[in-house]
Amino acid sequence: MNYYIGIDLGTSSCKGSVVDGTGRVYGSHSVKYGVSCPKPNYSEQDPADWYNAAAKILKTLSKGIEDGIKGVSIAGQMHGLVMLDENDKVIRPAILWNDGRSEKQTAYLNSVEDTFKETGNTAFPGFTAPKILWVKENEPENFAKCKKICLPKDYLAYMLTGVFSTDYSDAAGMLLLDVEHKKWSEKMCEICGITVEMLPKLYESCEVTGKLKPEFGLKNAVMCAGAGDNAASAVGTGTLSPGDCSISLGTSGTVFLPCDEYLPDAGRVLHNFCHSNGKYHLMGCILSAASANDWWTKRILDTDYNKFTLDKAAKTGVYFLPYLTGERCPHNDVNARGAFIGLSAETSREDMCLAVYEGVAYALRDCIEAGGVSVNSAVLCGGGAVSPLWQATVSNVLGADIYVTETEQFGAAMLCMVGCGEYPDLVSCADATVKKRLAVKFDKEIHDKYNKGFEIYKKLYPALKSI
Ligand code: XUL
Repeated sequence: MNYYIGIDLGTSSCKGSVVDGTGRVYGSHSVKYGVSCPKPNYSEQDPADWYNAAAKILKTLSKGIEDGIKGVSIAGQMHGLVMLDENDKVIRPAILWNDGRSEKQTAYLNSVEDTFKETGNTAFPGFTAPKILWVKENEPENFAKCKKICLPKDYLAYMLTGVFSTDYSDAAGMLLLDVEHKKWSEKMCEICGITVEMLPKLYESCEVTGKLKPEFGLKNAVMCAGAGDNAASAVGTGTLSPGDCSISLGTSGTVFLPCDEYLPDAGRVLHNFCHSNGKYHLMGCILSAASANDWWTKRILDTDYNKFTLDKAAKTGVYFLPYLTGERCPHNDVNARGAFIGLSAETSREDMCLAVYEGVAYALRDCIEAGGVSVNSAVLCGGGAVSPLWQATVSNVLGADIYVTETEQFGAAMLCMVGCGEYPDLVSCADATVKKRLAVKFDKEIHDKYNKGFEIYKKLYPALKSI
């Protein structure tokens, strides 16, 4: 029997699954780690935590089937900056996708015409290039030591294989890639004070990059290039063709829309990145989604209790802005902050719980409308996808039917199933292994009410911005 391991290198944990060629999941294992926030707007992790977690996961999942493991692939939290010295030692903690320290460098990059011309994208502080500039300006001694620059999953793959590689879907989020022509932009490297030689070699997501180092005991396993976590989740939900859409409710929230062609002007508001099927996609990203609900229930209410009924949907008059760590799309504002608006003496705990779900759904709709795209149906994925109340709220706010997958998602493992020849391409792999079902059809009456609520929601950020 052939087995494939997909590793999802997330922000709060690293998760792995081992599946066979039919998509049957044989085992899953996850290891949690922390995020460190040494200063306001900072978000960092120690790459050693990723390596230790992944090594443990590989060992646990392959126990007893070592020789059957044919491929490993990693889906990674995107945009994180990992810097290595001449001995491949990590120079400083990785600066993550939700770190907001590089506001000044981001504004500079957006003032340079080459940034959009070369990359097809607007700069956001979460992206890698502004963080490189931040290190250059604020930690010149670290910058001087730097010989290699890579993304979180590419660091992990390098440690597991000794091959310094990345894939186009993740590379696009560095703001160093000429997304249209799929090559590193020398101009962007020059602007950031680095060279193309410091960056990993580019591959398509399913391509084999090398073999696992002997110490992992997986002598028949190859490593495939992998993908950014959103592109891999899209694979795991079968979101591969124009007209498909997946929405992720994880630490971040994303709306992911595949396209067959590169769209020259699409990256002004949304991200205009490569997909792991060799084509392209658009993506809107909000920085707090399921994490906003976790903050509200666990940190503030100190309970898992967040019951409410849909009778109250669009009726409470309470609004929540989920900008707990600033906001990416559409505001591009690291200083945006969360808020509850419209509280009264009658407001109940249930109303506020519902407002949090609604606020995240409105924020996703804000991305969709600002990006000039439309979504009539979507597959929901990520931790928040399992809540029927959240499924219904997203459905009714967006006016879109919501699907979920019936089985666990294993997008990263699918990349190496194709890379190892188990399927000729990702579409046939998804057709054979991903089962979807309709979870909620949107309710027209509630959606009409949410249309009015959204008009109010859109006025709140501009009203509060200056304070
Ligand atoms: C996407 C983004 C996040 C991270 C989360 O642009 O920044 O979704 O990939 O891991």
